[in-house]
Amino acid sequence: MANPSLLILAGDGIGPEVMAEVKKIIGWMGAKRGVTFDVTEDLVGGCAYDKHGVPLHDDTMAKAQEVDAVLLGAVGGPQYDTLDFSVKPERGLLRLRKEMDLFSNLRPAQCFDALADFSSLKKDVVAGLDIVIVRELTSGVYFGEPRGIFVEGNERVGINTQRYTESEIARVARSAFELARKRANKVCSMEKANVMESGILWRDVVQEIHDKEYPDVQLSHMYADNGAMQLVRWPKQFDVIVTDNLFGDVLSDCAAMLTGSLGMLPSASLGAPMANGRPKALYEPVHGSAPDIAGTGKANPIACILSFAMALRYSFDMGEDATRIEKAVEQVLADGLRTADLMGPQDGTPISTTQMGDAIVAALDASL
Ligand code: IPM
Ligand code: MG
Repeated sequence: MANPSLLILAGDGIGPEVMAEVKKIIGWMGAKRGVTFDVTEDLVGGCAYDKHGVPLHDDTMAKAQEVDAVLLGAVGGPQYDTLDFSVKPERGLLRLRKEMDLFSNLRPAQCFDALADFSSLKKDVVAGLDIVIVRELTSGVYFGEPRGIFVEGNERVGINTQRYTESEIARVARSAFELARKRANKVCSMEKANVMESGILWRDVVQEIHDKEYPDVQLSHMYADNGAMQLVRWPKQFDVIVTDNLFGDVLSDCAAMLTGSLGMLPSASLGAPMANGRPKALYEPVHGSAPDIAGTGKANPIACILSFAMALRYSFDMGEDATRIEKAVEQVLADGLRTADLMGPQDGTPISTTQMGDAIVAALDASL
């Protein structure tokens, strides 16, 4: 059988630095677990714009459609802020999501015991937290038409459109219910049905899919603003949260910070199954390109490494090795190793990006 294939798009800022640590883990999988990946690398974001004048070249897009999974680092940087909207680094990422039709974005927020003190919330609120936000990723206000900046009379008007079809809501709802069944069997759906028609439809369709196909799963509905408040008040009330593209963007940043650091959180963006049965998939850390610390060795590679673990679990049916990587991360944190983002100013000396990667590889070795 052919080796599993990966396309690595490290991107901008700290992307290449954290991805270098993932490559160590990929190498470890080959050397110690006998799983060799065929790895291709290419450009996305600002670096692609610098070379090709577009944030994602058509050839790169075509490669992304062919591989078993895409691993992405991060895109963006201040030098690209003044570019035309159509070629901004983020457009490269949005094109990948849209053309691969990655409608279900899983964003786990898990609090590692060793970091519970580091959250801005009280320890008992976050200790042991383990929730997943399922964010719809290919529709809603991010992509709805009409959109643009138009002139009306003597002023400009900015327009974006929130638009959801029943089938778009149904498929992301199914993925949330499927996930819940493997977890605590609870889904909370968030929208603004009190002010938006798209929210009313969202609530109806989620309820319908539940009643017809997943009556065993416990379902609740919440307005998204209340959801934001509840996430901060008592996040452990949730198991799986399913929500639209924009609410999911905002709520997942909020959920991320509950765990202490954005530098810890992975994500998976999944589409429909391909001919080989694997879902179309892209894995990326939730954090951005952090241009302020790029090149300083301060970046935390854990989110990117855990994203690779998600790839093993969701694309390659290697849940055991995914768990092994997650345990290795837990181990190095329990040993007190910290990158700069996981420390206060008084907490001693942080280790570097590469030292963190090496420590995780050493913990993996010790696990065999
Ligand atoms: C995210 C990011 C992206 C988004 C940006 C970079 C386009 O914030 O993945 O959450 O808004 O979806
Ligand atoms: Mg975001």
